[in-house]
Amino acid sequence: MSRLNGMLLSEVEIMDIQVERVTKKEAKPKPDQNSLGFGRYFSDHMLVMRYTEDQGWHDAKIQPYRNFSLDPAAMVLHYGQAIFEGMKAYRAKDGGIYLFRPADNIERMNCSAARLCMPQLPVDEVVAALKELLRLDQAWIPSVKGATLYIRPTMIATEAALGVRSAKEYLFFVILSPVGAYYPEGFNPVKIYVTDKYVRAVPGGVGNIKTAGNYAASIMAAVEAQQAGFTQVLWLDAVERRYIEEVGTMNIFFVIGEELITPPLSGSILPGITRDSVIQLAKEWGLAVVERRISIDEVLAAQENGALKEIFGTGTAAVISPVGSLHYKGRDFLINNGKTGDLSQKFFDEIMDIQYGDKVASCAWAIRL
Ligand code: COI
Repeated sequence: MSRLNGMLLSEVEIMDIQVERVTKKEAKPKPDQNSLGFGRYFSDHMLVMRYTEDQGWHDAKIQPYRNFSLDPAAMVLHYGQAIFEGMKAYRAKDGGIYLFRPADNIERMNCSAARLCMPQLPVDEVVAALKELLRLDQAWIPSVKGATLYIRPTMIATEAALGVRSAKEYLFFVILSPVGAYYPEGFNPVKIYVTDKYVRAVPGGVGNIKTAGNYAASIMAAVEAQQAGFTQVLWLDAVERRYIEEVGTMNIFFVIGEELITPPLSGSILPGITRDSVIQLAKEWGLAVVERRISIDEVLAAQENGALKEIFGTGTAAVISPVGSLHYKGRDFLINNGKTGDLSQKFFDEIMDIQYGDKVASCAWAIRL
């Protein structure tokens, strides 16, 4: 049991959530698993829960997926108190269902909530409620390898008020979307545009949390990169515009010489759960993994002198995404001849095997439903 904002919440109370099922007529047809794309279809049900200052979290419900009614003055629409997470449910070969480190996602959401003065979620109870939702919508979890059910927990400020302050009322909800690969390239190497024109996050800002505004602010750079033929943007630090931060929807790793290098959690990049998993696996495999500042000049010098072997991104949506080329200041730099590197492939295979329950991680990351 946990005490939250003065309110006692037990797993039983939360698990005792009201469930309103779709009728047979309302149930939606399932999309073709081989052409899902990303985030275009949504399952039949959603989880919702409300927060008020006097009641804490209450009214947890699993209900048919449907529109919300929001007051036009709802504070999220004006001042952007909106945070979210991304996680996935995986269908094992034997038909079983796995989640990957789900409590870590809800804990990270609590870090985002704390930074934006939003209420804390009861982690165990939310994971338990999420499992209930997944049991109900399990037919939506794809069975084709590489396809998954993407889970999007979200919290928004719903209080109707125009003063700039933290809201007193919130809505938490979880929606489910059967997805294929995040990038059209799938697991093939992506072309990355290094921007020195825009920045993503400043020290002391909100770059280390998963808040909607970070993504809104990234769109212009992404549009310009896509128009120029690139898949994603690589961000540099906002102060010197030299040090690597992260890619649009991923953390990033470099294999230089015998080292696996990734930028440190300096406060302006997202503490990715796949990033953390790669670091832990690398340590288990005896690789020299280093979290340190790395400049774009160092990366490109290593590319030119042959020391740079691979670059790959990590993220829930993207899993492991090899980088085939970098574009910086008008020049293109080919990485590993534009091919997927051995280490990128090894991490991809290992993480997929763990997520789909084919292999047990030493840290018991995958949880069977
Ligand atoms: C994820 O990897 O889950 C993300 O949140 C990326 C997303 C914005 C598509």
